[in-house]
Amino acid sequence: MAQFRLPANSKIKPGKNYPADNNVTNIRKFSVYRYDPDLTSNPTLDTYDVDMDTCGPMVLDALIKIKNEIDPTLTFRRSCREGICGSCAMNIDGVNTLACLKSAEKVGGVVKIYPLPHMPVVKDLVPDLTHFYAQYASVKPWLEANTPPPSDQERLQSKEDQEQINNPSACILCACCSTACPSYWWNSDRFLGPAALLQAYRWIVDSRDESTDERLDSLEDSFKLYRCHTILNCTQACPKDLNPAKAISEIKKLIARRDH
Ligand code: SF4
Ligand code: SF4
Ligand code: FES
Repeated sequence: MAQFRLPANSKIKPGKNYPADNNVTNIRKFSVYRYDPDLTSNPTLDTYDVDMDTCGPMVLDALIKIKNEIDPTLTFRRSCREGICGSCAMNIDGVNTLACLKSAEKVGGVVKIYPLPHMPVVKDLVPDLTHFYAQYASVKPWLEANTPPPSDQERLQSKEDQEQINNPSACILCACCSTACPSYWWNSDRFLGPAALLQAYRWIVDSRDESTDERLDSLEDSFKLYRCHTILNCTQACPKDLNPAKAISEIKKLIARRDH
């Protein structure tokens, strides 16, 4: 599937250049968004020459090398380096993705790196995800059940019921989908966005949960849910190959069936 590309941001001015030593032969250029909240100047794009003979293949490897060896002020999030934690999500070559899973070789020319789009920036490549997490918490991403569990075992599910939640449970909350969604760009104050809605769906279809109606009630809102216009950017952006757009349309169907 072709990946959704953001328009190139031409308003950011070039910043500092960090050329490689003359003896380095295998150079890649990385152009990185820099923003320091303590400075009054506008963001810039700094360019770093990286010796790929002494660097791992992924964009995150290059960022770590830049921070360790060239410019310790460069700021970004990362933890697992395995596509599991979701913290290294950023916009690389116009596409929201995980820096630890993105091979620098697959990018032609200068590797351009921006923070996730349309989010407030804390510093450099670090977006402020406070609102994103608050929206996630608002869908009550936990089991709600009044019936006590069996005294001698866990609440069990059939294999078929478990398969319903298998895929949405693999979401790592990286925010690549929500920050690729035009509806979320313009209405993120009220539209929950694909990541939170995928998690809402995960609990709606959980056979052990007993708050399905309340969950659907809380989503039946012209902004929270129905600002999704099925543009599918979210599904194209997901680095874990999940399908939040389909989950959103399933929620709409469940509400429509229930209300008729
Ligand atoms: S399908 Fe809905 S949630 Fe996904 S990008 Fe389009 S409008 Fe946004
Ligand atoms: S659905 Fe995919 S892109 Fe969206 S937060 Fe989850 S893992 Fe990230
Ligand atoms: S560092 Fe954890 S997903 Fe990239």
